[in-house]
This record gives sequence, C-alpha cells and structure tokens, in this order.
Amino acid sequence: MTAPPRIESPPRPCIHTPAPEPLAVGRDAWHHHVTRIVAARDEVAGVRTYDLAFRDPAAAASYTFAPGQFNMLYLPGIGEAAISISSDPLKRASVGHTVKAVGNVTHALERLGVGDEVVLRGPFGTAWPLDELQGRDVLIVTGGVGLASVRAAILQIIAARHDYGRVSVLFGAKTPAGLIYASEYDAWRAAGIDVRLTVDEADGDWTGRVGLVTALFDDLDLDAAATGLTCCGPEPMMLAVVRRASAAGIPSAAMYVSMERNMSCAARLCGLCQFGPEFICRDGPVFSYDRLAKFLDIKHL
Ligand SMILES: Cc1cc2nc3c(=O)[nH]c(=O)nc-3n(C[C@H](O)[C@H](O)[C@H](O)COP(=O)(O)OP(=O)(O)OC[C@H]3O[C@@H](n4cnc5c(N)ncnc54)[C@H](O)[C@@H]3O)c2cc1C
Ligand code: FES
Repeated sequence: MTAPPRIESPPRPCIHTPAPEPLAVGRDAWHHHVTRIVAARDEVAGVRTYDLAFRDPAAAASYTFAPGQFNMLYLPGIGEAAISISSDPLKRASVGHTVKAVGNVTHALERLGVGDEVVLRGPFGTAWPLDELQGRDVLIVTGGVGLASVRAAILQIIAARHDYGRVSVLFGAKTPAGLIYASEYDAWRAAGIDVRLTVDEADGDWTGRVGLVTALFDDLDLDAAATGLTCCGPEPMMLAVVRRASAAGIPSAAMYVSMERNMSCAARLCGLCQFGPEFICRDGPVFSYDRLAKFLDIKHL
C-alpha cells in the first residue's frame, strides 16, 4: 500500500492556534478553574472523553491551548492527574480530555457524569511543532491512549490541511476493542489523512493488520528528508518507533515525542516528573527527540 498523493493547492491564510505563553512558575500555575462536564462519551471500554465547560465566562473566553498541551484535572478529596487536551483548539465552547481509567483520579472521574464539576489547572507544557511542520510530510505514530495527545493536532492539521504535505497516522492498539476514536477515522481519511491501524492481537471480526505499530512503516512510501514525525505512546513503543524512523532515514531533529510521566505540581517545583535534566511538566511533554535521545535509552530513568 502506498501513501496517498500530495494535496496541491494555493496557500491559505494560517488559522493555527498559537501556543499560549506557558503559565509562569508561581501563583499562575496554581490558578484553577471550576468546570462542568457537558458531555461524556465512551471511546472504548475504560476510556472516556469528557468535554469540560468553564463555569466562569471570562475564563472560557480567555482560555486557549495548543495541541500537545495538557491540563491538571483535580477532583477535590481525591487528587489530580495530568491529561492531554484532545479537542479541536478552534472549538472554544468546551475542552475535551480522553481519559483511561487506571488509578485514583481517573477511576473517580469515571464515576462522574454530565453536570458534575471538575477543577482544572492549565494549560501546561510544550505543544506539537505544527508551525515547523508546515510544508512537510507529517507522520503521526501513536499507541493506545497516546492518540489522545495528538487528536487535537490531527484536527488542527485538517483545518489547515493544505499547509502540510502527506499526513499519515499510524495507530496501534492491543486489540481492536482498544482502537479509540474509531468513529472518526473515516472523517480523517475524507479530509486527506492516511490512517493506518494495527493491533497486537486480533479478534474474530478483525481483518486488518496484526503486529507492532513499527511494522506499519514497511508499507509507507516515505520521503524521509521531507518528513516530520510526532510520536506518543508507552516509552518502549516510542523508542522502537524512533529507531524504526531513524532506519527509514528520518533525521532525529525532525522527530518529536511526548513523555507521559506521573506528575504532581506541573510547575517545576516537586521534581516528580524529572527526566535527566528535563522537567517534563515544563520543558515537555513534547520534546524534540534530539534532546531526549541519550536519556530514553537508560532503563528505569
Ligand atoms: C503530559 C501528560 C499527559 C497525559 N495525558 C493523558 C491522557 O490524555 N489520557 C490519560 O488517560 N492519561 C494521560 N496521562 C497519564 C495520566 O496522567 C496518569 O495515568 C495518571 O497517573 C492517572 O492518574 P490516577 O490518579 O487515575 O492514577 P494513579 O493513582 O496515579 O495511578 C496510575 C498508575 O500509575 C502508577 N503510579 C502512580 N503514582 C506513581 C508514581 N509516583 N511513580 C510511578 N508510578 C506511579 C500506579 O501504580 C498506577 O498503575 C498523561 C500524563 C502526562 C504526564
Ligand atoms: S510535576 Fe512537579 S516538577 Fe514536574
């Protein structure tokens, strides 16, 4: 299978959401907003998307984010968790978060419904380099709930589709039942995104690829020198992806990964997210692979 042809068209005005200034370390980082769940939908079993609307209209009007950034979602009496913002940055009525229930906060969130309140701090962190990727081919490689971190980027690329060359999404899940956003793939394809899927284990109905997400590189018609790679998923998977991409000739300076380590303050104060010399909450979560390469290889760092 080869990638679809490049889409050629005249340049259009840039409609990108500029990355907001990072919140200052200090009081700003603790500034919180009360939000209300205005929609909740199950993506797959155990993974739900929550659309949160700000209670304060002034906060709703001033809040912006860039794809790749995250919020800290706080449930009083339970705790806080870092969750990527998964909604379209151009749709401002609510802010979407796709959450896999794994622990205290995320299981408690699962018990909430439309109308319930969630406290939010953010947005935090670095964004996917969508401006730098303009004019280039883009290869988005994700695993599991990692697709949540790039969904906003996919929607932003679709809104400015002609600013990019060929765009491919390679997505792997453990089983077909883990393929989040499945109802959106047709729309992404119709908008000129090449979506390729694989699962580690098939079930009875699955007729698609079985195998690791890296195997999806085999069928790509890559122009490596013109391609920028963004990757989010479990760390061993990201390591395998950047190695496969290097073997395919994509320069490491054109690769970006998002690190999803546990966080507490999100303000470069507690050190919980420290990774080598980097604080993932402020220097990341999106890093150029060049910057992290020598640390990603170190086990248990
Ligand atoms: C930038 C960023 C973006 C993220 N985006 C998303 C997203 O979009 N969707 C999503 O579902 N998740 C996302 N995560 C992951 C999410 O923040 C974690 O899964 C978080 O721990 C969930 O909180 P919890 O209280 O429910 O789970 P916890 O109670 O924290 O437990 C989660 C798991 O982590 C382990 N754990 C807890 N604390 C530690 C620790 N200090 N060190 C090591 N292991 C620990 C637990 O044993 C358990 O297996 C993101 C993380 C980051 C950093
Ligand atoms: S989460 Fe506290 S320093 Fe990053």
